[in-house]
Amino acid sequence: MTTRTSNELPTNETVLVTGGAGYIGSHAVLALQNNGCNVIVLDNLVYGHRDLIENTLGVELIEGDIGDYALLCELFQARKISAVIHFAAYAYVGESHDNPGKYYRNNVVCTLSLLEAMRDSGVKKIVFSSTCATYGEPDEVPITESQIQRPINPYGATKLTVERMLQDFDAAHGIKYVAFRYFNAAGADPQGRLGEDHSPETHLIPLVLQTAAGQRNAISIFGTDYPTPDGTCIRDYIHVSDLADAHILGLVYLTSGHDSEVFNLGNGTGFSVREVIDTARDITQKEIAVIESERRPGDPPMLVGSSEKAKSLLGWKPQYSDLKQIIEHAWQWHQKRHL
Ligand SMILES: NC(=O)c1ccc[n+]([C@@H]2O[C@H](COP(=O)([O-])OP(=O)(O)OC[C@H]3O[C@@H](n4cnc5c(N)ncnc54)[C@H](O)[C@@H]3O)[C@@H](O)[C@H]2O)c1
Repeated sequence: MTTRTSNELPTNETVLVTGGAGYIGSHAVLALQNNGCNVIVLDNLVYGHRDLIENTLGVELIEGDIGDYALLCELFQARKISAVIHFAAYAYVGESHDNPGKYYRNNVVCTLSLLEAMRDSGVKKIVFSSTCATYGEPDEVPITESQIQRPINPYGATKLTVERMLQDFDAAHGIKYVAFRYFNAAGADPQGRLGEDHSPETHLIPLVLQTAAGQRNAISIFGTDYPTPDGTCIRDYIHVSDLADAHILGLVYLTSGHDSEVFNLGNGTGFSVREVIDTARDITQKEIAVIESERRPGDPPMLVGSSEKAKSLLGWKPQYSDLKQIIEHAWQWHQKRHL
């Protein structure tokens, strides 16, 4: 993991991590700790894991909601918080189609409370988890930050709305932001302390590993006739510890006085569904049964991001771009946590 010198980060102040008890947030908390930052996690534990924050990482967890304006103002004032890293959101695309109100309320309305509390408490820096889902179906791959954002699901629309709120709060109130548009977060802490533990799980790699572990009968491949070399969809999997490192660099960027900015965070290399399954077979040495199904509506053949901007402006250097390493780390965690 990248270790920055302490004078680049506000080590005498505190960073509030919303949604820090979740998958990506907990890895960012570990990276902040490794970089000497004081951290407080705010999470309502709808999906987060208390044990990972309090026991594994030994970090203070406040069980609360980002929509609670009074709680946030009290925290900002009492605890000398200088910056927020904002992971808290709902992120199930299918559910966002069925219940968009739930997504607009949590991801947009509650984020508005957070931004208003920052405005009223003088907190001027925020790093925000956006998503490649804000692009929708891309005109070109690899996707750069300048591509038009046309989300095709309510989840992506809520994240794009927050990006626009951030622009407006910057223009009016000088709250500076870095918005990271992640591709598919995957893998786990290389030392096995943290990892992915979503319930329900919808991401390909943990579902494939559940199948390898005998916790599911088979993994479905949706579409085998796409215009890709093996006919299955290609996606960009980015190691969660590399994502976590980028958040440190985002904070350093804002702390050094730079203007607000958006960055893609991806691997730059795509892997097909079949490649993921074959690599998981190699690593786990288990049978992984497959069910070939019809294409799902709204699944583009290939989603791969360009992260050149994050590399050149932030100096981001992903360390775990190899699919084998990503799956190895995920498998190590899966066996420790779930078997
Ligand atoms: N996992 C991915 O591949 C991916 C890709 C793109 C973007 N993202 C974004 O990254 C962020 C983190 O994703 P994740 O996979 O770690 O999800 P996660 O569900 O593991 O973590 C989200 C955390 O936020 C908490 N939370 C939700 N609503 C809250 C609220 N109102 N108040 C306080 N806490 C709340 C949950 O309890 C959970 O611990 C999300 O904003 C997500 O949209 C994730």
